[in-house]
Amino acid sequence: MIVTEAPGRINLIGEHTDYNQGFAMPIALDERTTVRFEPDDSGTVSLDSEEEADGVTFGLDVRRGDVQGWAAYPAGVVWALSEAGHRVVGGTMSVSSEVPIGAGLSSSAALECAVLLAMTAATGVELDPLDAARIAQRAENDFVGAPTGLMDQLASLNGHIDRALLIDFETSSVSPVTFDLAGSDLALLVVNSNAAHQHSTGEYASRRESCTRAAATLGVGSLRDVQGTEGVLERIDDATDRRRVRHILSENTRVLDCAEALTNKNFRRVGELMTQSHASMRDDFEITTPHIDLIAESAVRHGALGARMTGGGFGGCVIAVVPADAVGEIAESIEADIAAGGFPVPTVFTARAGAGASRVHV
Ligand code: GLA
Repeated sequence: MIVTEAPGRINLIGEHTDYNQGFAMPIALDERTTVRFEPDDSGTVSLDSEEEADGVTFGLDVRRGDVQGWAAYPAGVVWALSEAGHRVVGGTMSVSSEVPIGAGLSSSAALECAVLLAMTAATGVELDPLDAARIAQRAENDFVGAPTGLMDQLASLNGHIDRALLIDFETSSVSPVTFDLAGSDLALLVVNSNAAHQHSTGEYASRRESCTRAAATLGVGSLRDVQGTEGVLERIDDATDRRRVRHILSENTRVLDCAEALTNKNFRRVGELMTQSHASMRDDFEITTPHIDLIAESAVRHGALGARMTGGGFGGCVIAVVPADAVGEIAESIEADIAAGGFPVPTVFTARAGAGASRVHV
């Protein structure tokens, strides 16, 4: 029996920058998805999940459109591995997950990466983390149909205990940055709004299209290649696209500033940058919701050093850096504000940076 596990992620800062070849800084979570794989020579993969009622069986020659719903992610990985020329084998695969689903914490990347590690363990294929991440991303983009970037898979595969991962998407390089909140008597609070989101719907794609269109107008291959900001925005006629670009350019700068602030243990600055990032996602990229904005504002009002939505947007989680001794009090105050706003009860927990995906048993 092969057993693998892969974590979800929290993005500390740098949203929608990955497909613009910019910067982001996620951490891998302690919460992970586990896959148990018993290979056989059936030529099919039989999948079941503790979280889903129905199991699914598909052939190794599975094609786009053959498998829907949650099972499309594992099926997509098998498809993408074989499209990349790697051998795949049949067997029985059981999935269980601690990563909340649809919460902006990359439950899908965790599932893809755990399946990928299980399948390659069975076939003896060795992939470096970048190739593995690209194959998992291809499963999501071309099989599932969600036009997402590379951040989630890179975070899940490269996670590091007590380190944030500064990723430069131009080179796909991942640099660990010390992420030690506890050492400064702080904690990372996660408020799951319990408003689910989905990236195969149009809003994510439309943000991507704005960025591609603006890059073409500016005559650059990607927004990463924009030099400085002087006179740049004026060249984009469409007011919406102009705001989208302003978010990406300012967010890239915030990621680099935040990495420096983390290194210097300047958590006040980290908090400020997080709050600014939230405002930019709310006003310029327009991917937050009134519910999510309320959570972020409430966190800061009740003593967080900073707070922002994490992930692709339109729901999911807000993260906040808070004094460790005020976690309970701040969580309760946020819960009261959300209830007063008429929104559903959130799930609140603290997180730390965890290890990356691994083979537990081969
Ligand atoms: C989702 C995508 C990522 C990234 C984020 C936004 O999580 O999967 O590739 O684009 O949204 O930063």
